[in-house]
Order: sequence, then structure tokens, then C-alpha cells
Amino acid sequence: MAHDDIEIEGLGYVADGADAASVPPRAVTAELTEDDLVLDRSLRPKRLGDYLGQTKVKESLAILIEAARARGDVVDHILFSGPPGLGKTTLATVVANELGASIRTTSGPAIERTGDLAAILTNLEEGDVLFIDEIHRLNRMVEEVLYPALEDFALDIVVGKGPAARSIRLDLPHFTLIGATTRTGLLTGPLRDRFGMVFRLAYYTPEELGSIVCRSAAILGVDIAEDGALEIARRSRGTPRLANRLLKRVRDWAQVRGDGTIDEDVAAQALSFFEVDALGLDAVDNRILELLAVQFGGRPVGLSTLASALSEDPDSLEDVYEPFLMQQGLMVRTPKGRQATPRAYEHLGIALPPA
Ligand SMILES: Nc1ncnc2c1ncn2[C@@H]1O[C@H](COP(=O)(O)OP(=O)(O)OP(=O)(O)O)[C@@H](O)[C@H]1O
Ligand SMILES: [Mg+2]
Repeated sequence: MAHDDIEIEGLGYVADGADAASVPPRAVTAELTEDDLVLDRSLRPKRLGDYLGQTKVKESLAILIEAARARGDVVDHILFSGPPGLGKTTLATVVANELGASIRTTSGPAIERTGDLAAILTNLEEGDVLFIDEIHRLNRMVEEVLYPALEDFALDIVVGKGPAARSIRLDLPHFTLIGATTRTGLLTGPLRDRFGMVFRLAYYTPEELGSIVCRSAAILGVDIAEDGALEIARRSRGTPRLANRLLKRVRDWAQVRGDGTIDEDVAAQALSFFEVDALGLDAVDNRILELLAVQFGGRPVGLSTLASALSEDPDSLEDVYEPFLMQQGLMVRTPKGRQATPRAYEHLGIALPPA
């Protein structure tokens, strides 16, 4: 990834005891690492009741699931969209669990040829959930094959060549497709229209994240006070994945520098040690604000210019970083480009440029 330059080497973290080694000297960013995947799996809620926050989405899903169950029918195809780490994959597995269905997981880029999709579809069983992550990255040919599968539970295949070629239709078992995407904007109209329900996940409130931190702490056997959980929650960018990751970091710190208990003070000290600032902005977030406010002197900046100044690709800038900065009122998108707000200057501790 392009983030090597912001890695913080040698944080000066010296401590005795084996646990010191488990604190990797790495900047905390919104990016997904191998460690996260392991942590994600161990802390992932299994049932709707363990899935905290996103109340509206949960209520709608509960109704959808109960109604389908009562009819003895499969649930409509569902699309989850939203920034990374908000719980799209988790919700897909929760829905399958609530339905008592098996889940088959794949992703847009993994399905390269139409034959790959045909193989997946013909191997499904009645009532299965098919989860396609990064569904906006399906190629068009594959998408064309998916349409009749979604609409009529049928697969059209061509047999033979030339004048003798003919199309035959295979019946498929009834299944539910759950798609996940960080980029609804990139989904083709026809594909989006085939989902019965589209849910956009929102950033979590500090209170919701606080409950998630408490739940995770209980699973990990970490001793945490409510105010400690809230302190971690406030600095987690509205994102459960980040909250869990910070909890782990703070736990390590508390074990080595304290007595293992996490209260507000311990959490705040540990988080400043790891350079997670009071708003939960990571190194990339802060770099974006600095570029806008200082290097570009507060003028509006186009997406591609900003992306190349950051050495980031424009897609991840738009999907991963900008939504949170805008939600926090630190950045705005104007017709002329991206601009830092007065709040960003305040956050960076620098004076507003002359008007
Ligand atoms: N509502 C929730 N309640 C409790 N924990 C949650 C919730 N949502 C997410 N998590 C935690 O955050 C982790 C990350 O969530 P998940 O992998 O589902 O995100 P995602 O939206 O699929 O991200 P990506 O776009 O990177 O695939 C989960 O493993 C789980 O531990
Ligand atoms: Mg996911």
C-alpha cells in the first residue's frame, strides 16, 4: 500500500515483559491489515441482537426476515453500502444466521469469467445466501449472467457454436444475493435495480461505539470502565473496526504501563501515545487537511490533484477518507473542488488564510 511513508518506526516503545512485542510500531490508519482480519473474525457478532447500532437497518432486516420466513420464501436480494469497517460483511453473515441459511462468500474481482459465476450459481442450494463483496467490481459480462439469476432464478447458457448454437435455460435454486460495496455510485443501474432492499450504513455515534467496545472487551477479557470505552469510542472515526483495533492497542498499553485496567485517563494517555488525535483522525486524514489548508493555501482542489499529492488512489480518497472528514465538518466538496473548513484550521491549530 502507499502508506509506507506514514509508518511510524521506532516509537521508542521500550518495556519489559512479553506483551511489549505485541504492540506493533505502526501508525493507526483506517486501512485494513492482516491483524484486523483475525480480530474482525473473533469479534464479529453472529446474531442481530449482538449487532449494535444501525437501529433502522436492523429493524428493517428483522421485518424482512420474519416476513420471508412466514411466507416460507427466500428474502429479497439485499445491498449494503458504506465506508470500510462499518459492518457490511458482518451484516451479511448475521442475515444468513438469522435465516438459518448457509452462506457462500465471494467477491466481484474473484469472479473473472461467466463460467466462474455459473459454477457458483449451480452449486447453490435452495435458500442459500450468496454474498458478493465489492460487487461494484463485477465485470459487465458476468453481470449480464447475474441478471436472470436474480430475477427468475435462471441461468441462460449457450451450447454449440455458429448456426447450431442455441440458448438453453437452467433453473436455479431460490437464493438470496447479498452484495456489499463501498461505492454505490459505481454500481450499474440495472444491477442496483435488482436489489429489493438497499441499505446505506452510517458512521456510528460514540455511544454506539462505546457499547461495541464494551462487548469486545468482554470477549477479549479486558477490564474496562465505561468512560474508558467511551474515550476509545470518541476517537474511532465512527467505525467499529477501528474501535476494536484501538481497544487492542490500549489494552496492550495498559498492561505494560499500568495495571491492565482501562479507564478514561489510561485510554486517553494510550491513544495519545499512539498518535490517535482527539477527533480520531488518522495520519492520512490529517495529511489531507494539511494539504488543503497549507500546501494548497485553502483554495478548492480537484479530487485527482489531491489524490496525487497524497499518493493515494482517487477511489479510496473518495470512499475511505472524505466521507468521515465531511461528516465531521472538516472538509467540504464544492463545485470547484475540495476545501478545508474553518474547523479544520482550528483542528490543525493554524490561522485561517486571509479572505
Ligand atoms: N454493529 C456492530 N456491532 C458490533 N461489532 C461490529 C458491528 N459492525 C462491525 N463490527 C465489528 O467491526 C468489524 C468490521 O466489520 P465488517 O468486516 O463487517 O466491515 P465491512 O463493512 O465489511 O468492511 P469492508 O468494507 O472493509 O469489507 C467486525 O468484524 C466486527 O468485529
Ligand atoms: Mg467486508
